[in-house]
Amino acid sequence: MSRQLIAAGNWKMNKNYEEGIALAQAISNAVQEPEALVILTPPFTSLSSVFEVIRDKKSIKLAAQNCHVEKKGAFTGEVSIDMLISVGVEYILVGHSERRAYNQESNELLARKVDLILSKGLTPIFCCGEALDIREAGTHIDFVANQLQESLFHLSEEAFRRLVIAYEPIWAIGTGVTASPEQAQEMHQNIRRLIAKQYSVDTAEGTTILYGGSVKPANARDLFSKPDVDGGLVGGASLKPEDFVEIIRSF
Ligand code: PGA
Repeated sequence: MSRQLIAAGNWKMNKNYEEGIALAQAISNAVQEPEALVILTPPFTSLSSVFEVIRDKKSIKLAAQNCHVEKKGAFTGEVSIDMLISVGVEYILVGHSERRAYNQESNELLARKVDLILSKGLTPIFCCGEALDIREAGTHIDFVANQLQESLFHLSEEAFRRLVIAYEPIWAIGTGVTASPEQAQEMHQNIRRLIAKQYSVDTAEGTTILYGGSVKPANARDLFSKPDVDGGLVGGASLKPEDFVEIIRSF
């Protein structure tokens, strides 16, 4: 079964209004008919301006880095899903490890966010992954399985088929240390096995699973060549148009 390949750039808390437009323009100009769907994830302040740059490009979509779990109301400083929809957002990151760590986002909260996003017809990009001590203890497979169990496996099969998973080992994020293609493949294959067990082989084979954690032009091709790695969620290297474009061309 052919899966949707994706190269997603997560800008995190980088790029002001003008810089965001310039980065989106550089990527948009360089990308004509990419092998993979390209997703840009700017900060909230750049969502609508980036959308204006990419709106006519079928192969480039807009994502938000987060949304609030409630639909509206007295939540000062938060952004709702309807606000995101109104500026062209189609994908939303859920459970990035930085939000889990700095904003105390639990598996239970993330399950509710996934429900909200799916109920609005958008696509969650669900992030999972273990810290270094868990990898060193050899319990990383079980740890990620538990994240999926607690945040995703309550979904119906039909709902589950609409989401994207990103495996991002925390020890590889922003550190320059990338998981080896074999380490990524091992985890992705295991995630696919769990999905097959929970739902069906068909759903497992159709689920896009991205790898994230120090993806760069020098390692993207090897990572993406693994059978269960369907693309990347790219932080640092997505801020440099020439690097991100090279990553997009690595499929
Ligand atoms: P990195 O970030 O590519 O800078 O390691 C990846 C991510 O956090 O999504």
